[in-house]
Amino acid sequence: MLDIAFAAPSLPPKGALVLPLHEGAALSGLAQAADQATDGAIARALAAAEFKGAKGKTCTILAPGAGFSRVLAVGLGKPADRTTRRLEDAGGAVAAALAREPEIHVAADALTPAEAASLAHGATLRAYRFDKYRTKEKPEDKPRLARLTLLIAEAPAAEAAYAPLRRLAEGVFVTRDLVSEPPNILNPAEFAERCRGLAALGLEVEVMGPAEMHTLGFGALLGVAQGSVNEARMVVMRWNGGAAGAKPVAFIGKGVTFDTGGISIKPAGGMEDMKWDMAGAGTVTGLMAALAGRAAKVNAVGLIGLVENMPSGNAQRPGDVVTSYSGQTIEVINTDAEGRLVLADVLWYCQKNFDPVFMVDLATLTGAIIIALGHEHAGMFANNDELAGRLDAAGRAVGEKLWRMPLAEAYDDQIKSAIADMKNVGGRPGGSITAAQFLQRFVNGKPWAHLDIAGMAWSSKDAACTPKGATAFGVRLLDRLVADHYETGAGQ
Ligand code: BES
Ligand code: MN
Ligand code: ZN
Repeated sequence: MLDIAFAAPSLPPKGALVLPLHEGAALSGLAQAADQATDGAIARALAAAEFKGAKGKTCTILAPGAGFSRVLAVGLGKPADRTTRRLEDAGGAVAAALAREPEIHVAADALTPAEAASLAHGATLRAYRFDKYRTKEKPEDKPRLARLTLLIAEAPAAEAAYAPLRRLAEGVFVTRDLVSEPPNILNPAEFAERCRGLAALGLEVEVMGPAEMHTLGFGALLGVAQGSVNEARMVVMRWNGGAAGAKPVAFIGKGVTFDTGGISIKPAGGMEDMKWDMAGAGTVTGLMAALAGRAAKVNAVGLIGLVENMPSGNAQRPGDVVTSYSGQTIEVINTDAEGRLVLADVLWYCQKNFDPVFMVDLATLTGAIIIALGHEHAGMFANNDELAGRLDAAGRAVGEKLWRMPLAEAYDDQIKSAIADMKNVGGRPGGSITAAQFLQRFVNGKPWAHLDIAGMAWSSKDAACTPKGATAFGVRLLDRLVADHYETGAGQ
């Protein structure tokens, strides 16, 4: 993780210097000092490049003098619309543009402490890299950026503002690490072991194996798992940072460590993507790490259902009827609609055992949500308008956008079964909605939202604060939801 430091504003003797600039604003004191030290080379270069500070724009000046290897001007846009996201994105742009500079100083003397912290957070998030399996990469080809120092008069205040963001980034990286791992390494048992490792943060971690789940009657989850030699697990992670006895908020994640489709097998093309079919569980795990890491004043519980969906001589068949933990029976028409089967038992277990304030589940549940919303919004389904509104606002604030989709009884016809209480697929029309209608049967009326993150968990291109690959979509959003509404002393 990028090493972030805050120091009093004085010109660094060498290395890379970053000048965050608002559109139309004068150079900050430090930027002016740097310009003088380079005999006006910086101002001349910015004028020649017609750099005015427009948001998202950067201008690199190579070796302008005074010992600087590079000066990078980064645009913050109009001073009127200063937002946290602007500063984070600028930080991300800095990390991307200066990845080969070992040490960067940022002239943050015109920023508030909170803005400096946001810039550092964005740079940290963008500097993430999953390279543990690259054994042949030459050192000179690796990114060198190790340290970012923000030069600001109120350094202690900026440092205090940054502390919880650092913990949040650590949670994001827990998720990105889990989601990036190949499926031969990260099977359900290994995933559960990594959750156990998070006990060091103060989380209570409980792991259940197939025998216990069988005793409880998790017929839906175990039906999915039975085709794989890698046994199922359910992990319960608890963070008790709130008032003793206060109801917890609950997060539930789909953790299919690999989804072949089972007997209803998927086509070969792109099947490797199904290693990240555990992203919902990965997000819940990283979120719990973040809440514990920053000692959030909330009681929270995270539950993840971990299975591998494989075809084999012992795999479940299309036509099988399974009895879920809730007692409701399900005809399995398509073994590739496995996520809802896993979530059915974990949701029921959650509402029954924890009486939560709300339940939010995250799942790479349907290809149909990608058809509907592409890669810009996750689908949100909710039985509670207040929760939906809060989720929507949190998503906008952190730039992890949700789009609310409908739930309605009219869709229930599509999941009627001739032999059981329901079937696990509702056909192509409204495929994400019928999946959500299915899940709703296992929430027992509790305030609940389902986030279908199939289009958001993995990205094929770099974004400002998210390198391509595992995005950890949802960690920042849900951390924000908790901070804004559910911590002792928060809104309500
Ligand atoms: N894990 C998939 C959904 C998915 C697809 C996630 C593409 C990410 C990218 C899920 O288990 C699945 O296979 N869903 C089926 C449901 C269908 C059989 C009703 C789908 O979407 O095709
Ligand atoms: Mn599937
Ligand atoms: Zn799946």
